[in-house]
Amino acid sequence: MATPHINAKDGAFAETVLMPGDPLRAQMIAETFLEGAEQVTNVRNVFGYTGTYKGKRLSVMAHGMGIPSASIYTTELIKDYGVKNIIRIGSCGAVTPNIKLRELFIAMGASTDSKVNRMRFNDHDYAAIADYTLLRTLVDTAAEQGKKVTVGNVFSADLFYGVQPNMLDVLSKMQVNVIEMELAGIYAVAAQYGARAAGILTVSDIIPTGEATSAEERQTSFRDMMEVALDAAIK
Ligand code: HPA
Repeated sequence: MATPHINAKDGAFAETVLMPGDPLRAQMIAETFLEGAEQVTNVRNVFGYTGTYKGKRLSVMAHGMGIPSASIYTTELIKDYGVKNIIRIGSCGAVTPNIKLRELFIAMGASTDSKVNRMRFNDHDYAAIADYTLLRTLVDTAAEQGKKVTVGNVFSADLFYGVQPNMLDVLSKMQVNVIEMELAGIYAVAAQYGARAAGILTVSDIIPTGEATSAEERQTSFRDMMEVALDAAIK
């Protein structure tokens, strides 16, 4: 049955869905990496596709930007379409220059300034964590491919513009070395509805220096991340 935000048929999604933020990126992934990919949903141009990768059924669908958007799509995929595994593939900003551009970062936990998990958790502090099996599969897959990854705590920020300047120092002191905008929400949605989730990110910018990847570097690091996510997704 269609949901308010997904107009796919029942059973249209594979058990595992790779989720970038950007719908056009979802389309590009489907066209580049999946075989026989068919578009299964297009509400608000938030595209989703199902095809196969190395013979296994796999879906890719965008989650949009920010915790509210990502929470809507992941909730409906899990609750209404029976999706079991969600792997976010995205970008992040580094909080300190110790983290390098194009590095791969796997989010073991996600801290946040969003209140969504307090709303879920009687106003207490919920530890939003990746599913261990999925996390381990991503880490092992990266190692098999000879790719260096950092595994750690990310900060899922509600504000892209206007993060308090001293916040970077606080994050760095607490070993939270990258900022993105969705995983604290996605991890809690997965827990709430009984699915597994993990996120792998590429560092697209160094926030304190303003250094950012070029378009070409973004392509290379994106491909590195996709190779890990795709091989992990079918294990
Ligand atoms: N902030 C939040 N999300 C991001 C950033 C950032 O600086 N870079 C890439 N995703």
